[in-house]
Amino acid sequence: MQPSSPSLSPDSPARSYPAGGLAFPHRDLTGIGQLARHEILYLLDEAEQWVELNRQSQKRADLLSGLTIINAFFENSTRTLLSFEIAGKRLGADVVNMHAATSSVKKGETLIDTAMTLNAMRADAIVIRHASSGAVRLIAEKVDCPVLNAGDGQHEHPTQALLDALTIRHALGLPKGSDLNGLRVTICGDILHSRVARSNILSLTALGCEVSVCAPPALMPAEIEVMGVKVFHDFDAALKGAQVVMMLRLQMERMQGQFIPSPREYRHLYGLSLERLAKAEAGALVMHPGPMNRGIEIDSQVADHVERSLITRQVERGVAIRMACLEVLTRRARQLPGWEPLGGENA
Ligand code: CP
Repeated sequence: MQPSSPSLSPDSPARSYPAGGLAFPHRDLTGIGQLARHEILYLLDEAEQWVELNRQSQKRADLLSGLTIINAFFENSTRTLLSFEIAGKRLGADVVNMHAATSSVKKGETLIDTAMTLNAMRADAIVIRHASSGAVRLIAEKVDCPVLNAGDGQHEHPTQALLDALTIRHALGLPKGSDLNGLRVTICGDILHSRVARSNILSLTALGCEVSVCAPPALMPAEIEVMGVKVFHDFDAALKGAQVVMMLRLQMERMQGQFIPSPREYRHLYGLSLERLAKAEAGALVMHPGPMNRGIEIDSQVADHVERSLITRQVERGVAIRMACLEVLTRRARQLPGWEPLGGENA
């Protein structure tokens, strides 16, 4: 059973957008925080066609033929790297992956020098993942092509938030153009270190959701209320009324010191079991961006639940969203009518 559909805003679906490049007047995608609500919806709507294409046996659309996309990943990834690679290839681009572990970064090359090197190779788009918040913005300021943030430190992971919103929209049976007005979403886990939480809070609140966040006090950012969320430290209380429950992993690699008493204690207080899921709204849906720590923040019975878990559906939408982002952000380079080069701060 699915949660009841939230009420739709009066102008959805069949939404209309500003013409041409005014629909998305940004060169880069560095964060959801840079986007207006209609720009988020524009990317979601553009992704719908790619969800359809990706379900065909022939998955090629050669719109980006002749373009070069570089995926520069300075931090580990499975889903984001592979889906950006698949997205670029399905759109017909030449896609090159740069793994920091086997690059000259290991010989001491600076981030700026690496960025200038990629720029000199005349990439048409660069996708960056980096452990430092703000690294993607720094690179975007140094290169001549669109830059897409594939996750920077604790800052943002915009394409994850977009794929999550699209997954929710589909799970609720909402058509193209729909927002998520009135949907109650609870995000639980290591909110402090999570770029996924930050991007999702920005995206889901922009789309009209009522967002609650839940974490132990040590893993909750100070003054997160200013982002328009309700704050909980008691998971059972945070689940009450939730129609979507988004679980996050403990990011041990970003923790220096003792943030939780023990994984076992954490699971007891903040792990999502089937028993605990029953405290949410009947039929509540479960999400997780991955990678999961089964048996800590989420039990396998929940993660693998055929009706309730959206986790593999999130991965599927990830390819479509990344196709949409690459296609939209390269329209100026491809000189599509109405997509003239940007001036001013967006250039
Ligand atoms: N969700 C996510 O970013 O996963 P990866 O780290 O595997 O890319």
